[in-house]
Amino acid sequence: TLPSRVTVYEVGPRDGLQNESTVVPAEVKAEFVRRLAAAGLGTVETTSFVDPRWVPQLADAEEVLGLLGPDGVGARRPVLVPNVRGLDRALAAGVGAVAVFGSATETFARRNLNRNVEESLGMFAPVVERARAEGLWVRGYVSMCFGDPWEGPVPVEQVVGVCRRLLDLGIDQLSLGDTIGVATTGHVHRLLEALAAAGVGPDRLGVHFHDTYGQALANTVAALRDGVTVVDASTGGLGGCPYAKSATGNLATEDLVWLLDGAGVETGVDLDALVATSAWMAEHLGRPSPSRVVRALSGG
Ligand code: HMG
Ligand code: MG
Repeated sequence: TLPSRVTVYEVGPRDGLQNESTVVPAEVKAEFVRRLAAAGLGTVETTSFVDPRWVPQLADAEEVLGLLGPDGVGARRPVLVPNVRGLDRALAAGVGAVAVFGSATETFARRNLNRNVEESLGMFAPVVERARAEGLWVRGYVSMCFGDPWEGPVPVEQVVGVCRRLLDLGIDQLSLGDTIGVATTGHVHRLLEALAAAGVGPDRLGVHFHDTYGQALANTVAALRDGVTVVDASTGGLGGCPYAKSATGNLATEDLVWLLDGAGVETGVDLDALVATSAWMAEHLGRPSPSRVVRALSGG
């Protein structure tokens, strides 16, 4: 059975826009967030406070939050922060929630964070400690939970180990990332089962699927059946990680909402408003949304 309600965790402004070659002006980014909120998305990840030389697309994080004002911050407007420098910037911008982002694999930790897994956990520890002391909500992403483009399939025990370490730092919620979209339903079930056996129940978890092999929706259903109720998605199916070879867009929020609407699962999201938002963003990016739901519903 499926849960009666699912929290859609929207990552379009962050995961979506971090990978676009087009530079989206700060005002358009702010308007994107406003439109997503107006379409009923309660949780929207707005931007990243990372080194701007690593992700120039989101170098305007302060400006975007400044334009949004009080609507851009709070416990349901998380931002990515890798280190204390990022947390300082995020706190100065008034945020109420942050996400650190670790990796289940050594190669990706090195490529995305310039550190090995152990060193990156060491980098996150003071971030989580201080964020909690400041009363922020803290999420922890774990990338490459299923496969890694350099290392191949990732053993579930390796993922469980990193998850436990992040929770021990004091994180509120973990997001299991299928960064390159290679997960399948059986693998999702095996990972959730192993996490539950290690004391990490589905109430502490979100799932974060990329749709490279068209499996994101199926994987979502598998996770929901195992009790997960937080699903990451990106409006229009934008997204990908610039430091992960072969990463494509996230699960499109429209695909997710179409599925959940049909199953009678509540999300609070207005699908038509979302599709209109994707069409509007596609104009700014100069390319159509890869989501078939968006194409079907926008008459394209
Ligand atoms: P580093 O070069 O090792 O950093 O990068 P450092 O600590 O040695 O600092 C070097 C310089 O960078 C210093 O400046 C710092 O001040 C500056 P200098 O003194 O040389 O002039 N710096 C910063 N400036 C502004 N904001 C900061 C910041 N940090 C350092 N926060 C670092 C290490 C972690 C910073 C770098 O690797 C980085 O920024 N990585 C981010 C990569 C990224 O954003 N990737 C995409 C997000 S992850 C993702 O998409 C996956 C996910 O969606 C889940 C999934 O799909 O799996 C979440
Ligand atoms: Mg991602």
